[in-house]
This record gives sequence, structure tokens and C-alpha cells, in this order.
Amino acid sequence: MHFNINGKDHDLAPAPHITLLRLLRREGFFSVKHGCETGECGVCTVLLDGRPVNACVMNAGQAAGRRIETIEDMGEREGKGWRETGGLHPLQLTFVESGAIQCGYCTPAMILAAGRLLAEVPNPSEAQVRDALSGVLCRCTGYLKPVQAILRAAAVMRGEVDPASGLPLPVDWLLPRTGDEPFPESEAYPGGEDLSTRVRVAPRMVVAPKASDWKRVGKPDPKVDAVKLALGKPAFTDDIDLRGLLHARVLYSPFAHARIVRIDATAARAHPGVAAVLTWEDLPRVVYSTAGQSDPIPGPLDMFSLDRKVRYVGDRVAFVAAETPEIAEEALNLIEVEYEPLPAILDMQAALESKTIIHDEPEYVDFDESNADRNLAAHIHIDIGDVEKGFAEADRIFEHEYAVPKVQQAHIEPHVVITYWDEDDRLVVRTSTQVPFHARRILAPVLDLPIKRIRVVKPRIGGGFGGKQEVMIEDVAAHLTIATGRPVKFEYTRAEEFYASRSRHPMRVRVKTGVKLDGTITANEMYALSDTGAYGCHALTVTGNTGHKAMALYVGDRAYRENPNIRFVADIVYTNTPPSGAFRGYGVPQGFWPVERQMERIARAMDLDPIEFRLKNALREGELQPFSTAWSEGREPSPEIIETCGLEECVAQGRAAIGWDQKYGNPAWRDRPGQPHLKKGIGVAMVMQGTAIPYLDMGGASIKMNDDGSFNLLVGATDLGTGSDTVLAQMAAEVLGVPLDDIIVYSSDTDFTPFDVGAYASSTTYISGAAVVRAAQAVAEQVCERAALMFNQDADAGRPVEPHEVHLEDGRAFAPDGRQVTLSQVGHHSLHHTDQRQIMAVGSFVSPVAPPPFAAQFAEVTVDSETGMVVVDKLVMAVDSGVIVNPLTASGQIEGGMTQALGYAVTEEMLFDEEGRAREQDLRDYHIFHAHEMPALETIFVETFEPSHPFGLKAVAEIPMDGVAPAVANAIMDAVGADLSDAPATPERVWRAMPGRLEVSG
Ligand code: FES
Ligand code: FES
Repeated sequence: MHFNINGKDHDLAPAPHITLLRLLRREGFFSVKHGCETGECGVCTVLLDGRPVNACVMNAGQAAGRRIETIEDMGEREGKGWRETGGLHPLQLTFVESGAIQCGYCTPAMILAAGRLLAEVPNPSEAQVRDALSGVLCRCTGYLKPVQAILRAAAVMRGEVDPASGLPLPVDWLLPRTGDEPFPESEAYPGGEDLSTRVRVAPRMVVAPKASDWKRVGKPDPKVDAVKLALGKPAFTDDIDLRGLLHARVLYSPFAHARIVRIDATAARAHPGVAAVLTWEDLPRVVYSTAGQSDPIPGPLDMFSLDRKVRYVGDRVAFVAAETPEIAEEALNLIEVEYEPLPAILDMQAALESKTIIHDEPEYVDFDESNADRNLAAHIHIDIGDVEKGFAEADRIFEHEYAVPKVQQAHIEPHVVITYWDEDDRLVVRTSTQVPFHARRILAPVLDLPIKRIRVVKPRIGGGFGGKQEVMIEDVAAHLTIATGRPVKFEYTRAEEFYASRSRHPMRVRVKTGVKLDGTITANEMYALSDTGAYGCHALTVTGNTGHKAMALYVGDRAYRENPNIRFVADIVYTNTPPSGAFRGYGVPQGFWPVERQMERIARAMDLDPIEFRLKNALREGELQPFSTAWSEGREPSPEIIETCGLEECVAQGRAAIGWDQKYGNPAWRDRPGQPHLKKGIGVAMVMQGTAIPYLDMGGASIKMNDDGSFNLLVGATDLGTGSDTVLAQMAAEVLGVPLDDIIVYSSDTDFTPFDVGAYASSTTYISGAAVVRAAQAVAEQVCERAALMFNQDADAGRPVEPHEVHLEDGRAFAPDGRQVTLSQVGHHSLHHTDQRQIMAVGSFVSPVAPPPFAAQFAEVTVDSETGMVVVDKLVMAVDSGVIVNPLTASGQIEGGMTQALGYAVTEEMLFDEEGRAREQDLRDYHIFHAHEMPALETIFVETFEPSHPFGLKAVAEIPMDGVAPAVANAIMDAVGADLSDAPATPERVWRAMPGRLEVSG
């Protein structure tokens, strides 16, 4: 068949069943991505005769004879040796400069869709841009910056913005200003009329005075990896060709709970094209945990690669490797399995009382208070102060029950791994993981290989959000490589992401609060019943954070502030449902839904101002984090003082930005003229998170100087799209006094990069960043020594220059008398001239504290009182994350996090039928937000300077997950009085909760 791809002719012979996506990737067009199989995510978008189509649902033959366009030929990087290039396309350039790229997995599809729009509509409205993007799902960005990028590109392409002078970011938004100074009014880019979109490339900021003089830290630098992603370069796990690659598929259990009585793979093994079939009878029986956490894993060991028992619909039964995915699927159907079904526990309430034991295997290893005989994966009991005395001193007691659902990370790049033996017979695991070093350690005993014979390579990751903090797929491919000796690829389908992956723990939570008439909280108690599903990965630590963060925020006032009365008790139970695990926020969103709904109920019941009531009782600077005296993820606790808390300023900034004082309690604002069924509402929630795990999370970095004065920065940290590679490079550049493009970042490969726990617990910028600073400081000392040596070689110079007198700035080393050498001269001198040596250093960092970021989250909604339908109109989040290293990437984190949390608030929920089968198995039934459905988003950073970090920063990535759902629910209550206990706020739940609604029978 004849195909025209990017203007070039290709004669190809695709198999009859092959999709256009498979064909294009097979031919090396790796910019066309796989995110689903059913035409819902849009990352496989190509232009067919100029029109966007989903290549995953189109037979390759249908594209024969037609014009196919991918992003591969759309632009080119400048500066490729002696050959001049045309440079990036304006869309690629504005995506890079506007911070529109996070993980970059959806970027080629977005740019293609936008290119098509601009070809037809040179001056599109914001609504048209959002409509054009509506077919491409992005789980990272919240769509705001992509929309801005497209509007800016349109202006460039119309000739209204000079790319040379018009494209740089509006840095006037980032200049230091005090809390009292007004923010500048919106400014449009030339030629634009959509003010709201065009001015928000960078967030509003109240800059910490100490941070204002830095050259790189605090600046909105484009991401160091953005260009390759805008060009659609082959950066991701699956973007390679390997000769002899086999394809893995897994046979999953159709039963929620069953014993495998007999399994016969004879026919499957004999099937032509099948290379291996593995069942539990073939593998060593090694008990382990898939949780990608430090050693010792703070949880029970309860998992086997393959077992003779299955514990949920979707549990593994057998592995197959075959020449094609289709042959592997056929082989699955040839495996004969005889099951003995067992009673299944599908409800967490029933788990503790049930006579059915989910983990009855003798190899089970307890951790702390886990008890397999009671289906108890973990138990927590924390008492701070005297809760009974606190309740006795209260004038009012409030006690309510709440529920939060199971939800899916839904990163657009599915889990994918490729394993192979290298030339030394070391096992290479190329995988989309957040935790390469934990993966290596956990895999070693499971595969019966020493750590030194495993190399884990983490290429670019297409989003993780905690879902890839699990060593869940790597063993499948590795066992099959060991069995066959050949490279094996294993990639989840979108359905597998729902029934065979990990998700957020659902919980039922009871909160009891004692309050004095003046609004002082005297005691606070929470009981959380948490469902870990069939395996106990992250069971203890996720649910521990539910109390550790959410119950720590409100300590009470006056004497209670010094001696708060708090109790947190949790049972984390096994059920026969897919395992829960890590998901951005890590237990804290589950805590703030009940806590912030409870605060709202109390404020309204006692006629207290909801903001003043919260601030009166909230934790403040200089106070003890109450839980730090009692709990540390199953390890020894260590008392910790809150050094910085910008919560009050966050409230002040957020309430001004959303217009709280004009809207709250204002009936004229609440009612819509001519639309009596629509009611507006406004709500608030206050939240705090943590920054890494004290005395545990460790990051390492090494920096090596090259002979042109550039530096290789090697980090074990994993950039999931968060921009961590960029902010780490900014910190190194600040210390070394060089431009950002003189720092070449590589992350991460267990053979080459220093150890790092990986990307979780909001630790990368803080922990790995401090390690980078230490390495950079050590390298800077060596650079200064070398520069001093060079200055002192000058026979005409005056007094000798001491190394500590040398100052690094703008890529140069300065002597006190004004003489200077470039770092290029220093690097060259060190490697090629006198007393040669490699300038190089390693740094590592473990923090004794976990300084919490704080935030005020505001939401504005419109509720249809006839249907219960909620439209979220605006989300404003004011955040104290310490110093913001990069406003562009940090605000992208907040926008994307708020968007994920918006799903938690109103649409996302995983449900199971009476047999334990997942009801949601695709991105149609499981609804994540599209570009055209989004509310207005606004981010404000209120900087504080956290003294435990050299650049004063705290975490930013997880806190946006915490407050959106309760703020939206509080706004719904404000609008129509519906007082929700259970999330998400579906139309039915809202309608049923509305006071005075008409009951409908039947
Ligand atoms: S991969 Fe084609 S729409 Fe998802
Ligand atoms: S940047 Fe869109 S899916 Fe990650």
C-alpha cells in the first residue's frame, strides 16, 4: 500500500488488522502516542488530509493513498551544527515558552490540533481554542497554559507579535512586591481580546525579600526538556525499536476471590508464535510488596508475582510472551484454569467482621499492627493531649460521617516496561517509573538476581501521580525475559489501568469536634476506615497522612493552641477489590474532605464567619506540628516546629482575587436574573501538606564540569512532567553562576545517577534540590580554586588571590581586583593545562523536618436546583510553598493539580458490581476534565522563606489536590443548601441533599 507521510512516499504492507497508530509507530513516528484503544484520549492524533483523526481506531488500510501528517516534520531545533534549520514552528515555540508542556505526552497531539485550527481560523477566540483541544485529554496542565500558548502562537502567525520581542514572558508579573502593593491589572498581548487567558502565563506572586536578587532561582525559565517534547522526539519508554522484541499479556482473574485448583498452559505454549507462558507453578515463591518505598517497606508483605490464589477481578493468573500482541491474546484464551470460587468481601465495612480471610498464605509478613486474620492491613491509633477532657470542656459537639471514593490516577501514558539482557547478561529494565532505585531493590529478590545485575533506566515519563510509585509491571516483563532470553515489552491497556492497577484509597470517615461558643475548638477526633483492596501497598502510610496532615491543621485557640486535643484512629482493611496505592496527595485529600466539610457545618450551625472561624483555630508559625510528636509513617517521630506559615496572607490574597467580600452572603449575587433555577455559591477550604519524610527521604546529585564551562548534572530524581529537572538545573545554575543552558540534566539510570528515593511525598525540589545545591557548592569551590590558580599564574598580578575571594557570576570567575576568566577557560585549563584534574562533586541530602506548605482554596459554582447539576465557574488557590524556584512550572503544578482535584470533587468515582467487576474501564465512563469544560483557574503564590532549605522552598506538587473538593462542596451548600457528606458531588447526590426538594417516588 502507498502512504504519504509528512510529504514523503512510503510503500508499506500492513497486516489486515493493524491500526494506523501501530503502523506509524512501527515505522518510527513515535510522536504518535498510545493512551487508550478506544478513541477517547486523543494522544494518537494525526492529520489525515488535513483533518485530525484518532489513529488508534483507524485501520491502517483506510489511510492508504491519503496524506498523513505527524509533528515530526513540523519544526526543528535551532543550532544543529553547520546546517541551518528553520527553527521551531510558532506553536512549538509558544508551547515551550508558556510552560504549556508538563509530561509532554499529549503535546504533539495538542499542537497538531491547534495547527489545524489556526490554519482555518487565524484569530480564534478562547472558546474556539478550547473546542479544538477538546479531543485531546491532558492530565497534567489544566489546559490553561496550552490555551495561552495557542493564542500567543496565533498572534505571532498573524504578524501581530514579533517573535523576537513579543514572545518573552511578561516578567513584570514576577517582580518583587510586598503584600500591600496592588497587583498590576491585566494586560493583553498585542492583537488579543481575551484578557483573562492571555495574561496568566505566570501566576501572581508575593515574593520573599531574600529571593529577589537571585539570577535563576525564582525566574520563569522554560523547561530544560520542553523542546524535545514539543518536537515529538522519541523520549518515552516505548519510543525505541528492539530487535526480537516479544509482547507480554497477562491472564487476569474473572473472580473476586478464588483458589486456582488446576492450571494447564499446554495448548497456549504450543500455539505458533508463543515464546513463553508462565503460571504460579513456574516461578519462585517470593513474598514482597509492590509499594515503591524505602527499606524497610512500611507495610505488610503480601504479594507474589503469581499465586495459586486470586484476590480480585483483575488479579494475575498467568503471563504470556509472544511475537505479536494478537498472538499473546490468543494464547491467553488457550490457558485452562479451574477455579474454586471463595466468598468475596466487596465492602470495607464487612471486612473486619468477615470469617473470610483474604490473606491466608503462610508466607504473609506482618508490619506493625497488621493482622491478616482480621483482614487488617494496618491499624493506627494516635492520641495527642486529652481528647475526652477537650470534649467535656466544649459547649457544642459536632459528629458526622463522610465518605470519599476510589479514584484513578489516569496518567495518559499507561504503565509500560521493556526488559532485556545486555551484553554482560545484566537485566536492563527500561520502565515508566517514579522510583527507579526502589524498583531495582524490590525486583532483585523477586527475580533471584543480585541488585548489581539489574539496571533500571527511567526515560521520559508521561505522568505518574503516584500510580508509578509501584513496582507492578516490571516483574512481568522481567520474568518473561528470563524465561525466553529475549527483550519483552509489557504495556497496560486503558482498561487494565482501571482493573489491574492502583488507585486512591476510598474511605469512610467519622469526625467529632468540640467547640466553645466563641468558636474555639477544644478537641478533634477522626476515625478512618480505609480500603486497601486486595493488597496492602501503601496502606499504613497513605491513611496515616489522612490524619497527620488534615487533623493537624486545626489545633484550637489560646490554651488549646499550646496543648491541642486530637485523636486519630484508622483501620485499613483488605477487600476483594483492586488494590489502592499512592495517588498525588497521598491520603491528605481523603482527610480534608471530612475536615473542611465539618468546619463549614460548624461555622454555619454556630453562625460564625467561615474564614475567621478557620483562621482562629488554624496552626501558626512557631507552633509544633502536633502529629510530629506522635507519628512518622511507622518510624520514630521527631518533634517539629512550623518555621513558616503564610496561610493568613494566602487567605487575604485569595479572598480578594475571587471577590469573597462582594459575593459571600449576598443574595443579589447568588440569584441569576431570569433563571430562578440557577444559584451561585462560593466556598473556601484551608489545607496543608508535607514536604518529604523526615530522616528518610534522601536525594543525591553529581555535577561534572566540561571543558567549555558547561556542567553535567546527574540526578536520581525522576521528573514525571513536574519540571523537577528544570528547577534542579536552576538551583545548580544559581550556585555556579551560569546560564541555565550550561547545565545539562540527566535523570535517571541506576547505573549512572546517584541514589534518590524517587518522585513522591512532594520531596524532589526540596530533598533532591538540596542535594544539587550541595554538589554545586562543592563544584563551585573547585572552580574558584582553579580560577585562583589561573589568576596567580599571572606574573604581573599583585597579591595572590585566595579561592574564597573568587566570585562566580554570568559564566565568569571574578578576582577581587576585577580580573576575570570565563568558566570555559577554567574548564579547559583544568582538563588540559596545569595540574590537570576533573572538577566534579557529589552531594546528598536527608531532611530532619518536613515543612508543610499551606494554602487557601476558593471555589465559585453555579448549581441547577432542578437537576442538582453543578458547574464549577472558578477556582482560586493562594499557596505558601516557600520560595518558588520557577513560577511557570510551579503554577502549572497548581493548575494541573486543581484540575485533577476537580474530578475528585464532581465527576470521578470507581464503582464495582456485585461480582467485584470494575464498572469504569475507559475514559468515557470515567470522566476526567476536557479543555472546553474547565472553570477559570487562578494561582497566587505567597512566598515565605523556609530556613531548612538553602533556597527557602517547600513542596508544591501535592497541595492543590487537597482543597478543591471541600471548597466546591462548601460552595454548593452556599448556593442551594445541599450539605454533602459523600464525594463526588454528582447531580444525584446534590439533588438528594437539597433541603425542601420534592421527593420523587419510584
Ligand atoms: S490512543 Fe487514540 S484516542 Fe487514545
Ligand atoms: S502534559 Fe498533557 S498529559 Fe501530561
